[in-house]
Amino acid sequence: MNALWVRGLEKRFSKGFGRGVIYALRGIDIEVSPGEVYGVLGPNGSGKSTLVRIVATLLIPDAGEVQVFGHDVVREARRVRELVHRVSTEAAFFKKLSPLENLLYGARLYGIPGRVAAKRARKLLLRLGLPSDRIGKPMEQLSRGQQQKVAIARAFLHPPRLLLLDEPTTGLDPRSKREVQELILELREREGTTVFLTTHDMEEADRICDRLAILDEGRIVAAGKPAQLKARVGRDGRKTTLEEVFLDVTGKEWRDDEDVQAASA
Ligand SMILES: Nc1ncnc2c1ncn2[C@@H]1O[C@H](COP(=O)(O)OP(=O)(O)O)[C@@H](O)[C@H]1O
Ligand SMILES: [Mg+2]
Repeated sequence: MNALWVRGLEKRFSKGFGRGVIYALRGIDIEVSPGEVYGVLGPNGSGKSTLVRIVATLLIPDAGEVQVFGHDVVREARRVRELVHRVSTEAAFFKKLSPLENLLYGARLYGIPGRVAAKRARKLLLRLGLPSDRIGKPMEQLSRGQQQKVAIARAFLHPPRLLLLDEPTTGLDPRSKREVQELILELREREGTTVFLTTHDMEEADRICDRLAILDEGRIVAAGKPAQLKARVGRDGRKTTLEEVFLDVTGKEWRDDEDVQAASA
């Protein structure tokens, strides 16, 4: 059985007041095996968050089918919600509570005993490079990057069967990016968690994804293992990058406008 199975998925949004529609997803097919780290790589506005929101049962597709471990995201939404956990850049917290308190609150919902949870939460936060003097401070005093780490730690405290990470490292400094990437790989090793993540960071996709789909304007323009994708455009054994793959399949230059991405994420 696939951890995630997507067939012919379409989603459109109305621009409002007769100004037409945006085709955010135009016929997406994806299969993710259990234990895989699968990436969706695409520029700003390509449909990544829409795709993740549909898998997380937060949006209803206009056409097509999506299943999580065999469960339909529309008809069995409640069951799917037990299997997935989505981390996005707009994660919600109790702003007056500290990272530790926010994590402990989450742990209680899952029935993890307080002492065990406190120890694990602290370890995770330090592991992600959150300064130890921040662990007890109110969330609202933390930087965006620090808040993002807390959101990731919360997901890792009680790993779901399918972890959805929508641009987990956007806006983080290079070192924090590494810390998050390593934790993702470690979680997969230790718990066998399936990870479905979006990114616009080519290096990240190349480094941690077993397979990936390149998304452009709501369509998958290429999919496969990073090495396979690169081999397709590499001639004479020359080393290539995913940037060249993108140019090759779309005819467009890859623009890495992280600030624009972060602002609209
Ligand atoms: N709720 C919405 N209403 C109208 N348009 C939307 C909505 N959500 C997303 N879109 C549009 O759908 C397209 C894909 O958006 P999104 O999935 O957020 O892309 P990404 O996450 O890759 O940046 C964009 O053109 C965006 O403006
Ligand atoms: Mg997005």
